[in-house]
Amino acid sequence: MHRDLTPEQVRAFFDGHRTVRQYVTQPGGSPQRLPDDELDAILHAAQRAPTDATAQLYSLIWLDSPEVRQQMAELTTNLHIATASEAFMVCADAHRVKRILEVSGRQPGHWPAVGVHFGIGDAVMAGTNLLTAAEMLGYQGCWIGGVLNNLEPIATALKLPPEVLPFAALTIGKSAEQTPYRPRLPRPLVIHTDEYRAATDAKLTEGIDLMNPIADRPGTPGDWGKLLGAYFAADGGMEHREPKLVELLKRQGMLAGTPAK
Ligand SMILES: Cc1cc2nc3c(=O)[nH]c(=O)nc-3n(C[C@H](O)[C@H](O)[C@H](O)COP(=O)(O)O)c2cc1C
Repeated sequence: MHRDLTPEQVRAFFDGHRTVRQYVTQPGGSPQRLPDDELDAILHAAQRAPTDATAQLYSLIWLDSPEVRQQMAELTTNLHIATASEAFMVCADAHRVKRILEVSGRQPGHWPAVGVHFGIGDAVMAGTNLLTAAEMLGYQGCWIGGVLNNLEPIATALKLPPEVLPFAALTIGKSAEQTPYRPRLPRPLVIHTDEYRAATDAKLTEGIDLMNPIADRPGTPGDWGKLLGAYFAADGGMEHREPKLVELLKRQGMLAGTPAK
């Protein structure tokens, strides 16, 4: 087994990553599903992810039926959930470990903030392994934070028990689009040495200039600040998502600072 790729091969592999939202489908538009052995391999990769305290504080929900796919496509406003080869809901899960404690005769503790912290960490590590494995097999994929558009209906439809939180959906398939290589911020803005180094305005402006093409649209040069503003500025999308997330955290018993029942 290759554990000795060259630095150039590693860079080339990760440079091959593209988020893709249009997938090769069957002639009628229905999903071209992964062969069983490939599906098995990417799920194996997901489960081989490292995990906090051995606990595996996550669950993946494989979205198999066309009806559930369609419902999740609509609720997340990411229609490729219906057409991708495979689709998953990636969830933080502090529920199962508590059940394991109970069945082994122990009283579960009260740690909602820790559950969100390590639950999302574990979920992302499993999802990242899954996506990377899919890319090794020649597929591409897309994470879908659009779950925050309709969190409560998603949690209800998927019958998520308390202490399970949908983090994001993930689609996988063969690309049917010409996807540009999307830039990243200059390394010194992101990777710090020994201590956090606050960026100067000039360095941040350089970063914005480098990132602008990520927002390119046909005929219109990109404006990354504008794109970020639509999400993160006052009255942007994230402010609108915030109360729904807090509400679901409360409903699921995962809101930090709430007393034990
Ligand atoms: C947590 C997360 C949530 C995302 N949510 C969405 C989404 O809801 N819809 C979408 O089309 N892309 C989504 N993306 C994909 C990003 O837009 C994409 O990764 C980014 O533009 C960088 O592009 P690249 O992955 O091709 O380099 C998400 C990515 C992540 C990691």
